[in-house]
Amino acid sequence: MQKIHFKSLSSTNDYVRENIENLNDKTLITADQQTAGKGRSSRSWISSEKNNLYFSLLLKPKYNFRNDNLASLTQYVALVLTKVFKSYNVDAWIKWPNDILVENKKISGVLTETMIQGSDLLGIVIGIGVNLNLSEMKIAEIDQPATSLNILLGRSVDKEEFLEIFLKEFFNRYSILLEGGFSLIKDEYIERAMFLGKKVRITVFDKVFVGIAKNIDNQGRLILDNNKIINIGDMLC
Ligand code: BTN
Repeated sequence: MQKIHFKSLSSTNDYVRENIENLNDKTLITADQQTAGKGRSSRSWISSEKNNLYFSLLLKPKYNFRNDNLASLTQYVALVLTKVFKSYNVDAWIKWPNDILVENKKISGVLTETMIQGSDLLGIVIGIGVNLNLSEMKIAEIDQPATSLNILLGRSVDKEEFLEIFLKEFFNRYSILLEGGFSLIKDEYIERAMFLGKKVRITVFDKVFVGIAKNIDNQGRLILDNNKIINIGDMLC
């Protein structure tokens, strides 16, 4: 696995996008700081703190796997993150599709981008930000309830250690996930889902759907109580 580290970058995801043709499958890009860290839905991701974790993983799977397996990769990452937190004895939960919450506050986010040229898949960039070592003051700057692992543990957290546990856990089932898809992890995902049975509001581009989150189907899609099935969106609950 190729690992490239930068002291500062605009965004680890953008770096991978811009250099995708020269980077190998399974390249890891880390940065101590990002000057234009991106979140989902055009939000920004505060990335000024050097002891926090900002990284992107480039995947260039060789065979043409099914599209829904691609979508489930990002939900797999969310599940993997809950397992990493568990190794620190921290109980983390998934807010669909891939936000990680502890005590109902965000601790980690995933931004997956797919690079396609014509009908070819150039690669998948999985960008992950984890609040590992944030001060209460920085947390207050975040536009939603948030927490950080150092605060939960009462000590600072080693970035390298967290990343190593993540990579080990991720590659443990990565290949079988690509072949088997979401149904392989569905039960585990549901066990960590904090939103089922709750009233949710999902924004999908310019549309908003409201209902009770009833279930997750075999492709990782959200099913509301009015039987509306949602592929992707931003959840408020
Ligand atoms: C979210 O909105 O929850 C997703 C946040 C993803 C942030 C990470 S930090 C590393 C990578 N580079 C970026 O610019 N964004 C992702």
